[in-house]
Amino acid sequence: MFFVGLLCTLTNKLTKKVKIQSSHFNFAKTSNFRLSWTEVDFQLSNYWEMQELLRGINIFLIGMMGTGKTTVGKLLAQELGYRFFDTDVLIERVTQEPIDKIFASIGEENFRQIESQILIEVAACTKSVIATGGGVILSSQNWSHLRHGLIIWLDASVELLTARLANDQTRPLLKKTDLTSKLNSLLEQRRSLYTQGDLRIFINENDTPEMLVSRILEKIPSKIVSSLKISKNQN
Ligand code: S3P
Repeated sequence: MFFVGLLCTLTNKLTKKVKIQSSHFNFAKTSNFRLSWTEVDFQLSNYWEMQELLRGINIFLIGMMGTGKTTVGKLLAQELGYRFFDTDVLIERVTQEPIDKIFASIGEENFRQIESQILIEVAACTKSVIATGGGVILSSQNWSHLRHGLIIWLDASVELLTARLANDQTRPLLKKTDLTSKLNSLLEQRRSLYTQGDLRIFINENDTPEMLVSRILEKIPSKIVSSLKISKNQN
């Protein structure tokens, strides 16, 4: 229906370019000759091991507004040589309206339908990190697409989210409301859904996006290996 399929192809070139800028696997450092060849070999084999493990499956970032899905997602994509998509940005591109205007003009229910359609389109790509809107987990139909990839829940305390979102004017659900109690009630409604993700990354106040990406990259192998074991035992 939309145009994301085309984006998958168009972003391929870009993806190849960012691969060598990866810093978790220390490629950036290799260009400064700071690593010995043994270390370069080690980093390269880590990188390819990760590619072998992931086999191109998509990574979906879920979590509340303000958890940094976009910032972390972009960095993670860069580290993995993956494409990056943000469902909110795609919705805005398709509708030519900012999210708060969409909510005001057609209402949340219609927004959710567009969001689901966009999710279907991006989920059809491979090798992509996808930052989703905080409410994407509300629809069971959406889960059938999320489940094709690795789902990472970025979790943060309501205190931290309140501090981050105090001056935000872009999120319609947080307008004209007591921020802390609204975040508490949204998290209360959604927590049991977020916990259905494959990995939970808890965000502390002083965590940088780089630290979070490193933590994600460290946790991915054990998660994939354990799910491979489960599916092997099921067969
Ligand atoms: C929403 C989160 C927003 C956006 C919309 C609704 C939600 O995305 O999709 O305002 O229901 O939590 P972010 O999580 O990227 O802020």
